[in-house]
Amino acid sequence: MSAQLLPIEPFDLVIFGGTGDLAVRKLLPAMYHRFVDGQIQPSSRIIGVAREGLDDAGYREQVRAAIEKGVAHVAKAQLEAFIAMIGYRSLDARKADGWDEFSALMAAQPTHIRVFYLSTSPDIFTDICQRLGSLGLNGERSRVVLEKPIGRDLQSANAINDAVAGYFTESQTYRIDHYLGKETVQNLLALRFGNALFEPLWNAQHIDHVQITVAETVGVGHRAGYYDRAGALRDMVQNHILQLLCMLAMEPPSSLAPDAVRDEKLKVLRSLRPIDASNAGQLTVRGQYRAGAAEGQSVPGYLDELGSDQSKTETFVALKAEIGNWRWAGVPFYLRTGKRLPNRVSEIVVTFRALPHSIFDPANGPLLPNRLTLRLQPDEGVKLWLTIKHPGPGGLRLRHVPLDMSFAAAFGIQQPDAYERLILDVVRGNPTLFMRRDEVEAAWNWAGPILQAWEGSGDTPKPYTAGTWGPSAAVALIERDGRTWAEDAA
Ligand code: BG6
Repeated sequence: MSAQLLPIEPFDLVIFGGTGDLAVRKLLPAMYHRFVDGQIQPSSRIIGVAREGLDDAGYREQVRAAIEKGVAHVAKAQLEAFIAMIGYRSLDARKADGWDEFSALMAAQPTHIRVFYLSTSPDIFTDICQRLGSLGLNGERSRVVLEKPIGRDLQSANAINDAVAGYFTESQTYRIDHYLGKETVQNLLALRFGNALFEPLWNAQHIDHVQITVAETVGVGHRAGYYDRAGALRDMVQNHILQLLCMLAMEPPSSLAPDAVRDEKLKVLRSLRPIDASNAGQLTVRGQYRAGAAEGQSVPGYLDELGSDQSKTETFVALKAEIGNWRWAGVPFYLRTGKRLPNRVSEIVVTFRALPHSIFDPANGPLLPNRLTLRLQPDEGVKLWLTIKHPGPGGLRLRHVPLDMSFAAAFGIQQPDAYERLILDVVRGNPTLFMRRDEVEAAWNWAGPILQAWEGSGDTPKPYTAGTWGPSAAVALIERDGRTWAEDAA
């Protein structure tokens, strides 16, 4: 079975930060895959922009090397055809040089959709938008994509959003959260709203609790400078994990129209119970990794990578969130994420309530609650844990087994990278999987008081050894409630 491909209009994709890690490692390979699948018309152009003094040929070499390194099975002819679409402009958003030539380059394809992807530090978002605006490049066929982080708190997010709004309307502004482009996340929509089975059970009456784990084995490495100003709450929870939570917990939207979905997500964000100085001590755990082992190798601790012994930045966070509405009252959402954990795994585990009564003898085996596991990575798929009778004559032995569907095995296709769908959605003008301004604000409204509580407490993050599941306090956080972290992830 192969994916159904919808053709898209010719476009110009301009990547500001075109020589950066995200562009080279993710965005350009994503576009290459879409090109190889025939979705991108060859008159489209991809233009890298950065301060480095490169020319087209120099940039093309970088892109060629990145694709040969990052993509399996590259066909030479296809790679050359893709490379022919690529250009480069050396520009500094804070200096006037080169912008007129850039404008002339854009004018060469006046009918193309224009996507300006800001994969730079947010400090220069305003300068870039101002330049684009003054050159008249913000017309109705232009779109701007904002990479996270959008601010470091509500105030700075508002400042960025206000500045961008001076040049691009909200409907032209695509705030990207690449987790929304992951197959399993979109599959949540299909599972919840394409099946009669789950929705009647999708509430506090039938669901005991939800866990969302996004675990990484990598450390912060060369991103220590950025990371130390962010930390796990800003880097992963305020955006990716809250977006997963919204998709899981939102009310059924009336349709898939962008605002129908985003209105429902917004309601979830606004219903999150506040965590602040009064309860952060009970509901949150921060950790920071120390030297240990990851993927079979000794690895340094966070402070060694940072080259400082002073940082209070968390590389791990676990917390217990609650949604104060009728559907979810009293259902805990345990969220955790961290660097240098034992496995790279992202998953959502929905645990249903225990049976009200058992007709079985305890000797038949334990009756465990049903569980639905949605695995985002690796091996994207869905597992529904059920109790069945172990086959065989005589006796009745109960077993808890998963109905296990790996998407790769079931559909025989390689899962596309999240950016493949998202960038094409920008060209198509479909913002369903992007964050609206009010969502970003609501997410900061909830995350801000947690950060303030941590700062105000004077505590430091609890140390954990690289290659373990975070500080023991994270285990205590859930065990206090008589629950444990799901072993699928552990
Ligand atoms: C990014 C974070 O947004 O997501 C990184 O800034 C993190 O710190 C990454 O490593 C994880 O993305 P993925 O798709 O590899 O799970």
